[in-house]
Amino acid sequence: MRLSSAGVKRFYNPVRLNFTEWGNWETSILEAVGNRKALLMTYPQAEASGGLFSNLRAVLGDDKMLWVACPELPDVNEHRGMHRRVRNFVRDRDDIVIVAVGGGSVIDLAKVMSLARSQVDFEDIFTERIAAGKHIDRLSHVPVVAVPTTAGTGSEVTPWAAVWDTQSKKKWSVQGRSLWPERAILDPSLSASCPREVTRNSALDALSHSFEAIWNVNHNPVSDVLAVAAAKGVLRHLPTVIAQDPRDGGDDEKALLLARTGLSVASLRAGLAFSNTETALAHAISYRITIEQGVKHGAACSFSLPRVLRLALEQADPTRDALFQEIFSDFMTADKLAGRRPREPYEYLEHFLNEDAGVSTALEDYGISGEVEFQERIRQALWHRRGRNFLLAAHLKR
Ligand SMILES: [Fe+2]
Repeated sequence: MRLSSAGVKRFYNPVRLNFTEWGNWETSILEAVGNRKALLMTYPQAEASGGLFSNLRAVLGDDKMLWVACPELPDVNEHRGMHRRVRNFVRDRDDIVIVAVGGGSVIDLAKVMSLARSQVDFEDIFTERIAAGKHIDRLSHVPVVAVPTTAGTGSEVTPWAAVWDTQSKKKWSVQGRSLWPERAILDPSLSASCPREVTRNSALDALSHSFEAIWNVNHNPVSDVLAVAAAKGVLRHLPTVIAQDPRDGGDDEKALLLARTGLSVASLRAGLAFSNTETALAHAISYRITIEQGVKHGAACSFSLPRVLRLALEQADPTRDALFQEIFSDFMTADKLAGRRPREPYEYLEHFLNEDAGVSTALEDYGISGEVEFQERIRQALWHRRGRNFLLAAHLKR
């Protein structure tokens, strides 16, 4: 009998998860570090802002910790110097763990820096693996404990990282087994002080991850369930988090707490979903917009979602259509109960982005002159590694 794995769908994620009740994350970090020394990577303002940094210092102790400040948008040209510094700290030691506390860019940077354990120089890692698009599977690496302070990136449960070169306007996706974090520690309280724009962009990134996992050639039954729940979570909780932020006049503390927790869970579910599917067309469209227009990742990868959803619904398979109907079922029910005509899923999505999330979906706001140029952007994006994951990529490229 001839055996074939064609058509077999798999789900795999090795990251251990700790969920901590509001404010109890320090104990989990201590437990995760154990007897090892910690290399703490976090955002540059952490030391000045006191609280988080002081708490970590108190928890870990100075003799057990080296602190590395991560730049706001890590650039490959800064990776080189940081790699040398990290390598000096981790060289010939197997009792080190990197603790990455921050948003997606901090966790992504920590994953790349974790390769400093390897004997391979950064230049070789960059030219032979990262820039060449090869998987990073067998490089020895320092374990990473990821502690996200935003709800959206999903990087804490994925085996990839983004590397940007702002000078030559390029972006690479690094991926491979060596990049799975050892553990993720999730505590919604860590995102409580996020500025409104960061909260919104992070949540939109998670929304985009969930849609991209569904219209994806790599979808599987587990990623589908996670993606639908994630999308529903963002649609439900982001408006409350925005409305109840006390810095903008919100005063319902309980509703805010529940909604922030809901966004954290949605972000995690989206991360788990796309940890197995990768992203797809909307992300492939976004990279040029972020590099050329400076648009934040969350807005850049979500403004196109209604248009891509319409494309997917017009031509994709009925199982995908049913999942999108499920995501917007509450909106449809509300319209029916109010005696209004239920709208198409992409219409609800566009309304949500414009009115609830406050993000424009107008092409000209992203440096795109109109529908003709947008179609050209789609054609270009379909040749991108991520664009090829779009369910209709093969059909549209014909
Ligand atoms: Fe993303």
